[in-house]
Amino acid sequence: MSEITNLISKRAAARTTSHFTTGPTDGAPVGFKAHPNPLPLHWGMPNNGFFPIDSIDLNLVDYPFQKSLQLTNNSLENLSLTGSSNGGQSVTPPLQPTKNLKTIRIERHTTDPDLIDIATGLQYANVEGLKPLLNFTRDFINRTHKPGYDDWETIITNGAGDGLNKAADALLDPEDVILIEEFTFTPFLQNVKNAGGIPVPVKLTIKSGSQGLDLEYLTDLLENWSTIHPDKKKPKALYTIATGQNPTGLTQTVEFRKKVYELADKYDFAIIEDDPYGYLALPPYQTPSSTIKLDTFLTVDEYLKDHLVPSYLEIDTKGRVIRIETFSKLFAPGLRLGFIVAHKEVIKAVSNYSAIVTRTSSGTSQLIVNNVIQQKFGGVDGWLQWILKMRITYAHRRDVLLNSIYKSEAYKKKFIEVIDPKAGMFVALIVNFPEGTDFLAKLKLLVWKFAEYGVGVVPGINMAVDKKFSAEHANFFRLTYAPANSDDELIEGGKRLTDAINDFFEKGLEF
Ligand SMILES: Cc1ncc(COP(=O)(O)O)c(C=O)c1O
Repeated sequence: MSEITNLISKRAAARTTSHFTTGPTDGAPVGFKAHPNPLPLHWGMPNNGFFPIDSIDLNLVDYPFQKSLQLTNNSLENLSLTGSSNGGQSVTPPLQPTKNLKTIRIERHTTDPDLIDIATGLQYANVEGLKPLLNFTRDFINRTHKPGYDDWETIITNGAGDGLNKAADALLDPEDVILIEEFTFTPFLQNVKNAGGIPVPVKLTIKSGSQGLDLEYLTDLLENWSTIHPDKKKPKALYTIATGQNPTGLTQTVEFRKKVYELADKYDFAIIEDDPYGYLALPPYQTPSSTIKLDTFLTVDEYLKDHLVPSYLEIDTKGRVIRIETFSKLFAPGLRLGFIVAHKEVIKAVSNYSAIVTRTSSGTSQLIVNNVIQQKFGGVDGWLQWILKMRITYAHRRDVLLNSIYKSEAYKKKFIEVIDPKAGMFVALIVNFPEGTDFLAKLKLLVWKFAEYGVGVVPGINMAVDKKFSAEHANFFRLTYAPANSDDELIEGGKRLTDAINDFFEKGLEF
């Protein structure tokens, strides 16, 4: 039995599954011999011959924004060559497309065990996910974040939002406490509430070089729990977005994670690690150029060894960690596809819950993701190469936005600071209000200023677990370089934002 078994909610542990099509399983009469080839007159699943789709052709790109780069007669591969100073030697960019296919065909039937065909993908299926994709998730985790124990499994979900809801259900009974970074992905709070859980915020340190969670605060909180929260049960879990945290963009180092894990072990709680952004591990800011330099490309091995921050899974020896993954940020959000990695007992609890809430994830999404990864990218390493291309593109966007801010009057006058994120798609913009300022009132006014200047940002306070608890360190906004259509939009966005702040400060913090 794993340590995690004691942490599974009573509600989840009490669930069982059975299906009315299951044949007799107990007490076979003496002399019974199973027929070697029984015929299915029991399942209400339509034969795949009824499906109106015979094959699907998917037209694909080799790198993000390929079409727009082609308009300027560039490609990521070409761009990479322009940056090399190899004395005229010809070099092979490390990120050549593995299979170079522009189109892949998904057939009604295939015998390739790595692929999902239409007959399978569009059919009813098991709750855990279709086998080829499930195998991929295992191979992927083995390559990127191999857990420190053996009894782990994966299950396909409808994205991280769904994964989080299922993790909350698996752990939390009414009145159970879950620790949450004080600024967080707030939809999760509704999942906690839905399970009857009580969220308790943990302080974050929001400044450059910080790792997010305030470890001293957390340690003290746990040590003195019964004094600080005499009316609450001991925490059952910690929810953390440990890499490229939403909304602060902060990332915990592996040494830091080890300390947090030690606390989890000492005080017996689970860690829900939500990681939609971790694979977008970014190089430090550099002045953006119009070409992407070859030396900013990494091989997959270099990326895994030196850049990808290890997951909590890797230091987990007891199955305490529930890792929530998603294809939303690396493939596309509309797929509603992700997966959970956890101890098999947790996966069983999640699977039993899935059977009554979502059933299996969309087969269409599964077959598209799986077959693109296999047929186009050639499996795990090819998929990681695609991720490296996304990483370079995001790093460039981050650099363009930060550069626009660094050049501004507001930045030069130190009205603001930014945290250069080590991963993901969020930047915290800290506003240096004079001491004694009522942050919340001024932040509200600033948001009106931004609306007037024509730029949208998220006030940190909107993502607080408890606004009162966090009011004194809410002097920041979340910016993202993910949705912009072009570098020009990012430059202009940065300019509007900093002009608005400059205007606000020059008017003595008045509108
Ligand atoms: C931290 C975090 N968790 C979960 C999600 C939800 O992701 P999904 O689209 O996979 O449901 C998001 C989306 O923005 C997020 O930022």
